[in-house]
Amino acid sequence: MAIILAIETSCDETAVAVVNNRTVCSSVVTSQIPIHKQYGGVVPEVASRQHLETINSAVSLALEQAQLPIAKIEAIAVTCAPGLVGALMVGISAAKTLAILHNLPLIGVHHLEGHIYANCLSEPSLEPPFLSLLVSGGHTSLIYVKDCGVYETLGQTRDDAAGEAFDKVARLLELGYPGGPAIDKLAQIGNSQAFTLPEGKLSLASGGYHPYDSSFSGLKTAVLRLVQQLKQERLVFPVEDIAASFQETVARSLTKRAVTCAIDFGLDTIAVGGGVAANSGLRQHLQTAATEHNLRVLFPPMKLCTDNAAMIGCAAAEHFRRGHTSPLTLGVRSRLPLAEIMQLYQH
Ligand code: KG4
Ligand code: ZN
Repeated sequence: MAIILAIETSCDETAVAVVNNRTVCSSVVTSQIPIHKQYGGVVPEVASRQHLETINSAVSLALEQAQLPIAKIEAIAVTCAPGLVGALMVGISAAKTLAILHNLPLIGVHHLEGHIYANCLSEPSLEPPFLSLLVSGGHTSLIYVKDCGVYETLGQTRDDAAGEAFDKVARLLELGYPGGPAIDKLAQIGNSQAFTLPEGKLSLASGGYHPYDSSFSGLKTAVLRLVQQLKQERLVFPVEDIAASFQETVARSLTKRAVTCAIDFGLDTIAVGGGVAANSGLRQHLQTAATEHNLRVLFPPMKLCTDNAAMIGCAAAEHFRRGHTSPLTLGVRSRLPLAEIMQLYQH
């Protein structure tokens, strides 16, 4: 058993949570989206300043909502990579201060490991090995989860991440930021068969296609051309049908790769994580394909798909159980391959 206070400030959410292993005691998420919306995307300097203004009250609120005094906390966890350096710095400074002040161990957590472990909060019996499909604003990866801290990336995007594709297409359709939820909403009333869009297959030098890697930049360009053509022809602009056709193409492409990968590696569970895991089209497609192939597919509840600190606390609890803690000299990293994660810990 470990009661952990976790902090997540890698992008545009200031999040603090208290978890007891795989149980969420409290989860505070203060979104900066309304602030960044006016710029059409996240402005790093603005994000750091907002984190700085919000972090202390978020810590107090998380403790208050968990109805626990700080004396009951056994470790402090914090996202230290990857992400916006200035934003990560705010979280790590707060975490180190709390660790020093209350004489508690510090546990640095890789943001993507948090997204993987979000599934354990809704499915506490989940244990490796399993396949993780990570689909966020910055990543689209298929990861073989062998054990806590032991990951092998089997597939990834060669260009845009899935969430990035949603955000860019939403901009083309003038739907604002973040694009994923806006496209998802419109897609529900659109015809997903209205337009045929390219899936983005990656050729192999040896012939055929890479079975697990994806590419979304061609799809984005195809949507741009379609929008230009439809505007030129002065037709009624079928924004819902474009949204639905785009979402269908992304969902089909991700589903095909994830299912092929799980079957090839003999893994019976696909655990999805990251903001795009909230997408209704992806959920439907993957669920149908998984049932067909006798696979188990897990999606965290919506509020645990997008950035939050509960998932960071849950991943930290796994490391803490294994005796992994980080030195107080822990730094932040804008990039860190999942395969190098163990360098965050002293044994
Ligand atoms: O995991 P996340 O909160 O932050 C990163 O670590 O990147 O993911 C944010 C991304 C954004 O690109 C957003 O547009 C996308 O997740 N997203 C969605 C949905 N909700 C959020 N994409 C598709 N459908 C959704 N319902
Ligand atoms: Zn994330």
